[in-house]
Amino acid sequence: MKIIMLGAPGAGKGTQAKLIADKYGIPHISTGDIFRANIKNGTELGMKAKSFMDKGELVPDGLTVSMLLDRVGQPDCKDGYVLDGFPRTIPQAEELDRALSERDERIDFAVDVDVPDENIVNRMSGRRACLKCGATYHLEHIPPKNEGLCDSCGSGLVLRDDDKAETVLKRLQVYHDQTQPLIEFYTRKGILKTVDGTQDMKDVFAAITGILG
Ligand code: AP5
Ligand code: MG
Ligand code: ZN
Repeated sequence: MKIIMLGAPGAGKGTQAKLIADKYGIPHISTGDIFRANIKNGTELGMKAKSFMDKGELVPDGLTVSMLLDRVGQPDCKDGYVLDGFPRTIPQAEELDRALSERDERIDFAVDVDVPDENIVNRMSGRRACLKCGATYHLEHIPPKNEGLCDSCGSGLVLRDDDKAETVLKRLQVYHDQTQPLIEFYTRKGILKTVDGTQDMKDVFAAITGILG
């Protein structure tokens, strides 16, 4: 099963993608996590990506698409995957479609986790992220068992550099300008499914598994 997670920054794409990956036994592929791992390791790709991410802008398609297509070509992706944060522009979606159709493959579901802008800033300021394994927590809604430490791998949790309030507002604007058109794109393909992302995390997941089966 091949799934795309759509939604504004902070809508809960990463939180739900992890749950989906565990339940269906498929890899969770987050372009944001891959960039952050590259930044942490000081790679050239990471250095290039950081300059855009810190401003709340998108990393150029030229850097993003080849990285993602390379990842979904790995052997662990043969039975499917859940994409989190990709595609984010119409050209990215078209490149993905083209690469998949060359292999006679297609995306099965595009799940839009719908959360209004008003809810987003609060979620971001309370978010704490594990840069080692990609797990995400929230100080109030989804706290880790041990303060400041990841439940899954024990690493220290951090506030992401791009989660400052002014950068979050910029990311929301970029989302509306460049990513929201994908909702129409996948509606036309007949694979868009919308879930109410303002519900409790477990209820959002129940709605998603109701769709995926
Ligand atoms: P990326 O890492 O993808 O960030 P994003 O899209 O802005 O999304 P977030 O990760 O911030 O939010 P999320 O929807 O995953 O929410 P989460 O589950 O954490 O991208 C970062 C940057 O990388 C981009 O700005 C861009 O520069 C670059 N980039 C990445 N991909 C790119 C691409 N394809 N092209 C170009 N550039 C790219 O949840 C948020 C918080 O809410 C957490 O604290 C969580 O615990 C909490 N929460 C989750 N669900 C609930 C709930 N139901 N109730 C209450 N709280 C909840
Ligand atoms: Mg995320
Ligand atoms: Zn971790």
